[in-house]
Amino acid sequence: MTPTSNIAIQCLGYTPIPVALLSCDEVPRVDLYRKDAETGRLRLYRAAEVPMLPEDLTRLEQSKVGWLYTPEADHGEMQVYIRRKLDQLVGDNSISVRERFGRLNEVVSGILESTFEAGETDEVMQSSAYVASQAIKLLCQNEMTAGDLISLLHHDYQTVTHSLNVAYMMVTLAREMRLVSDSELFAVAVAGILHDIGKLSVSERILNKSQRLQRREERVAQKHPAHGFRRLCERTDISFAQLMVVYQHHERMTGKGYPVGAVGEEIHPWARLCSVVNVFESLVSNRPYRRRYPLTEAFQIMDGPLSAGLDREMYECWKQLILKK
Ligand SMILES: [Fe+2]
Repeated sequence: MTPTSNIAIQCLGYTPIPVALLSCDEVPRVDLYRKDAETGRLRLYRAAEVPMLPEDLTRLEQSKVGWLYTPEADHGEMQVYIRRKLDQLVGDNSISVRERFGRLNEVVSGILESTFEAGETDEVMQSSAYVASQAIKLLCQNEMTAGDLISLLHHDYQTVTHSLNVAYMMVTLAREMRLVSDSELFAVAVAGILHDIGKLSVSERILNKSQRLQRREERVAQKHPAHGFRRLCERTDISFAQLMVVYQHHERMTGKGYPVGAVGEEIHPWARLCSVVNVFESLVSNRPYRRRYPLTEAFQIMDGPLSAGLDREMYECWKQLILKK
């Protein structure tokens, strides 16, 4: 799988562009639209011929406007622009790795969100590959610690945010355990981003329900690994290990997981890796029905009955890595 420049996904005929990537001297000469906070409708913010001034960017930032939109006709130009700016950001040695990662994470979560919303597998794959390739460059710098990583992540639970966080954590744990070669870390990151792709086939009502799911709803939600597997299994740009992450990340060492109740080493090592950080990430994220657990409390919960279902060595390694900070 190769990273691609097709990262800016059209949203209702418009391409979202992160304000964080705009700079006055380099804003493409295209019409820019802004989303009205109340109606959600797009209205013209700046016509192509009007120059963008530094105070415009400051005002947008102060108003917490994270995204502007460009019309369909400019989609190609905007893709090239976004990619060039992200390449610059990631390679900019004048700012710390930690800060670059923080900014990258802001931008790519928005990009992935619009891709997942569109629900097209091809586009999700392309965006995931691009995002993974950029993230790997920063995550593999020794200046980034596990503590930095945790503090830079978003902690509100949404499928896309969760998937990105899991991807970053999988790379960090795989590196620490030397589970894969450096050249395979990219594939691990892509697998992490894709692990919940099957949720695209589960209704939002069930995914976002704030009360406890009924048994019937739970059964529907638990089909997401199988949905994900079916979505990806015939593709030639995904490896067996990546596919197993999608299919087996809710399996447990004890055989009490789903979709099939695989036991111990029947579960692929990459899927076991994903299980550990997936459980952890869920506990340290805010949910509609509870606040996130502090790190030490999350580990106390994982040390309880959950621990038997997780790969012991991987879990212990993750705990050490996070608690030592
Ligand atoms: Fe999942």
